[in-house]
Amino acid sequence: MSKQELGQFFTPTAVAEFMASLFELASDDIHLLDAGAGEGALTEAFVRSACSRKQRPSRLMVVAYEVDEPVLAALRRTMERCQSLCAARGIEFDNEIRHADFIESALEFVRDDLFGSAKAPFNAALLNPPYRKINSDSQTRRHLREAGIETSNLYTGFLALAARLLCDGGEMVSITPRRFCNGPYFRPFRREFLGSMSLERLHVFDSRSAARRKASVHHAP
Ligand SMILES: C[S@@+](CC[C@H](N)C(=O)[O-])C[C@H]1O[C@@H](n2cnc3c(N)ncnc32)[C@H](O)[C@@H]1O
Repeated sequence: MSKQELGQFFTPTAVAEFMASLFELASDDIHLLDAGAGEGALTEAFVRSACSRKQRPSRLMVVAYEVDEPVLAALRRTMERCQSLCAARGIEFDNEIRHADFIESALEFVRDDLFGSAKAPFNAALLNPPYRKINSDSQTRRHLREAGIETSNLYTGFLALAARLLCDGGEMVSITPRRFCNGPYFRPFRREFLGSMSLERLHVFDSRSAARRKASVHHAP
């Protein structure tokens, strides 16, 4: 798939830092979800923010999902930097890079959850999800439907599933187009999302390009 088909636009450092600063981080043991992690800009900003606080967590675990193989090497390097940052601050750091489709993987949890056997694995989620229309007869759409999520765009699918993976009191910060706020298309998503999450803060970026940086990884020939 091309970068465009993957919805691959990386978050500029300043925007990632701003997003990371919005977390309260009340827990001493942070389990962070980075779904559609790219090169890991969001995770790195999150770790930097956690490390610079007076009240630092004692443990930080990150799970990063990414489908695009060529960006994984950069993502691994980011995790190594995060490891060093945390070590310097006496924070135990652990990470898992999952080279997998987030929608498919999250579905396994949602299925277990229906039988009451799953424990929500995260207390923080930081996302800049891929934006792409999902065809009504696609596999992704079927997966989402199976989870009871009716939506026509990948980003709302990511948000709805990330919300399901958060424990009570968990926090999520995400960049999204503002289109989900109105109109009938996104009504089922709003119902699902706002049924389990409360909005604490909305920040409106002046332009879409202000919150985007071009992907810097090139596919090998
Ligand atoms: C908008 S980019 C954001 C990347 C990174 N989080 C950042 O903020 O710089 C979305 C990322 O999601 C990845 N992606 C697209 N579809 C995915 C899927 N189904 N599962 C996991 N990752 C996916 C893309 O390859 C891309 O790297």
